[in-house]
Amino acid sequence: MSKILLIDDEPSIRDALKHLFQSEGYEVALATSAAEGLAAVNTNDFQVVVTDWKMPNDSGMDVIKSLRASQPRLPVILMTGHDTPVAAIEATKLGAYDYIRKPGTPEEIPELLDLVAKAVANSRRMSEPVELGNATHVGDAIVGSSRVMQDVYKQIGRVAATPITVLIRGETGSGKELVARAIYQHSQRAGRPFIEVNCAAIPETLLESELFGHERGAFTGAHQRRIGRFEQAHQGTIFLDEIGDMSANTQAKLLRVLQDRHIQRLGGRETIETDVRVIAATHRNLEEAMRQSTFREDLYYRLNDALITLPPLRERREDIPELVRFFIRRYSAELGSSQPSMPEPDAIAYLQEQTWPGNVRELRNVIRESLLLARDAPITREIVERLLAQKTPGRTTGDQSMAGYVAQLLAKAKRGELENVHAALTEIVERELYSQALRLAGGDQSKAAGWLGVSRPTMRDKLLKYGFHPSQDES
Ligand SMILES: Nc1ncnc2c1ncn2[C@@H]1O[C@H](COP(=O)(O)OP(=O)(O)OP(=O)(O)O)[C@@H](O)[C@H]1O
Ligand SMILES: [Mg+2]
Repeated sequence: MSKILLIDDEPSIRDALKHLFQSEGYEVALATSAAEGLAAVNTNDFQVVVTDWKMPNDSGMDVIKSLRASQPRLPVILMTGHDTPVAAIEATKLGAYDYIRKPGTPEEIPELLDLVAKAVANSRRMSEPVELGNATHVGDAIVGSSRVMQDVYKQIGRVAATPITVLIRGETGSGKELVARAIYQHSQRAGRPFIEVNCAAIPETLLESELFGHERGAFTGAHQRRIGRFEQAHQGTIFLDEIGDMSANTQAKLLRVLQDRHIQRLGGRETIETDVRVIAATHRNLEEAMRQSTFREDLYYRLNDALITLPPLRERREDIPELVRFFIRRYSAELGSSQPSMPEPDAIAYLQEQTWPGNVRELRNVIRESLLLARDAPITREIVERLLAQKTPGRTTGDQSMAGYVAQLLAKAKRGELENVHAALTEIVERELYSQALRLAGGDQSKAAGWLGVSRPTMRDKLLKYGFHPSQDES
C-alpha cells in the first residue's frame, strides 16, 4: 500500500485530507510542522509527502529543502494559499515535485488526487528495482535469456555507469521504458530524481515550455514564470520518451542543451547550468524520419553515441515460455490465486508461433486475460487461440504485411470459409487504426478523432465495437 505523509498545522485540514486519502486506499501519516514531518520521514518509508506552505514555526519550503538534500527521490507536493505563485515557483526550483492550491471546494479535490497518484507512480518508478535477466519476485523485471537479450543486459551495464546520453529503440511494447529505468537504477544518479516526459503526449506548443520552462510574458498566457523539467531534474536523469515525435524546433533546442549543458527559459536571457543525464526512447524509424526531414540528423548522431535496440518479440521466441511463467506468477498474485495455473505445453507452442506486433505488452495482456478465463485451471491452447482471434480477426502467424493479410483472406474466401472479405479487412485496418491513434493521443478521444478526421460519436462507436478501453495500459 502506498504511504502518504501529510504535513499541515490546521487540524481540520489534516482531518479532511486524511479521510480523503484513506478513502482512495492510501495509508496516511500526519505531522503538524515541518520539523515533525522531517522526523517522520527518517523512520518511515513514504511514497509521497504533501505539505502545507505556511505554518507557524516553519514552512513547506523547509521540507522541500531538507528532503532535496537527504531524500531527493521522495516527491514533495506543496499546497499553497490562493495568492502565492512566487512560492510555488521557488518550490519547484528547490526540487518540489509540484505545487497545487490547497483545495477549498470539492471541485478542486480531483486535481489534488490526480497529482498525488502521479507522484506515487513516479516514486515507484524510481524505487522499484527492475531486475535484469531472471525475475525472482513478482516485481518489475526484464525477463528473457535469449542471446539478443543477454546483449541488451550487457549494454545496459556498459552505459549505466557513464553519464552519456542513451537512445533506446524498439517497437511498441518491447520494453523501452523498463530499460530506461534499469539504466537509471544502475547509474551513479540512482539516488537522484528520474523525471519522465512523454514528448508525444504533450502538445507541440507546450512541450518546449514543459522541458525548458518560461518567463512571465514569454507568450500569450504565460502569466508567471515556470520552471522546466530540465531545471527541475538538475543532477538527476530525464527520460524523454517518444523523442521521435518531437517537433523540429524543440529538437533544435534540445540539441543545444545536449551540447552546451545549459538552458534558457523561453523568453528569458538568463543562462542556467543544468547537469542532467538524458535517456531517450522512440519506436519510430528515425532513418525514415531523417529522410523525410522530420528528425534532425545532427540530433540523431548526438543521441546515437550509445544506442540500445530492443529486438521485437518475434525475433526472440525462445523467451516466450519464460515470459509466460513470469506474467502468470505476477498476475495470479494480483488476482489472489495462490496456485498459478501453468499453461499446457501446446498453449506455449501456439504462443511461440505468433508474430506479436504489440510485443511483450501484447503477450502480457493475453496472459492476464487467459488467467481470468482459465480461473484456476491451466491455460489451454484453446483459450489463447480464442483470445488472439478476438483481438485480431484474420490474424496471421507469418507475414504481417497488408499484402499478406489480403492474400490470406482471399484464400479463405476462395475456400468458402469467409463471406465478406471487404468487411473483414476493413475491420482489421480499423482496429489497428483506432487503437494506434488512441494510444498515441494518450487516451484522448477528441484528439484521436481529430487526427483521423472522424466525429466523436464515430470514435466512440468504434471504440465500443472493438472493445478498447481508453487506458488499456497499467504502465
Ligand atoms: N523483457 C520484458 N520482461 C518483462 N516484462 C516486459 C519486458 N518487456 C516489456 N515488458 C512489459 O511490457 C509492457 C510494455 O513495456 P514498456 O512500457 O517498457 O514498452 P515500450 O517499449 O516503452 O512501449 P511503447 O513504445 O508502446 O511505449 C510493460 O508492462 C512491461 O513491464
Ligand atoms: Mg514506452
